[in-house]
Amino acid sequence: MVKKLIAGNWKMNHQTADVETFARDWKSLIEKKALPSEAMLLICPPHPLLSFAKLSFQDLKIAVGAQDCSSEKSGAYTGDVAASLLKDVGASYVIVGHSERRQYHSESSHVVASKAYRALEMGLTPIICVGENLEQREQGQAFDVILQQLSESLTERAAGDKCVIAYEPIWAIGTGRTASLEDIESMHQFICDKIQNRFPVLYGGSVKPDNAKGILALESVGGVLVGGASLEASSFYQIASF
Ligand code: PGA
Repeated sequence: MVKKLIAGNWKMNHQTADVETFARDWKSLIEKKALPSEAMLLICPPHPLLSFAKLSFQDLKIAVGAQDCSSEKSGAYTGDVAASLLKDVGASYVIVGHSERRQYHSESSHVVASKAYRALEMGLTPIICVGENLEQREQGQAFDVILQQLSESLTERAAGDKCVIAYEPIWAIGTGRTASLEDIESMHQFICDKIQNRFPVLYGGSVKPDNAKGILALESVGGVLVGGASLEASSFYQIASF
């Protein structure tokens, strides 16, 4: 069986004590029952928690990743974080173009492409997010929107390198409303065709212990990107025990 990436996006949640709690709870869960070897695990905490999470999770086989990076190498960019620094403090992945970045920080797909480019240059695997909003879905534009986001967010370098794509319909994020298995399958097939099956395609949007099994059973789904249900070890563990 092909390995599936089970990625947690903690967003702007949690502090150092929560990393300790997560690690302790995770340890006791896997001591009781090991996870399937097909699961690759990743947690993306807020930037200041990266090195502590790296240290706390290293014996638990959980990789760490960042939630965003700058498209610039270094320099006078107050508040931004360089991909090279993320790598230095232990990240191996970085999420780019999450819909919350696109929405609240007006990030265009072109900006996303340059972030993915920089991440690759610094040896990080970018998780490039795409997703349509409810209006676009209801007007039958979902496939066109995804195609445009994909072609603009994937640079030539990214296209020839190691990347992960995450399909996250905006209307399913944090709403408790998941796309149907048929909708996920058809969009994932569409994306896999467009990228010629070169990268895994994760599904994200209200992935929970009770729906993860069905989603992860789809062949075109290369893993999941989990928000709310990744905050606690028990629910993340249940998702990873597919
Ligand atoms: P959710 O978030 O699982 O809380 O819907 C997913 C995401 O935004 O990556």
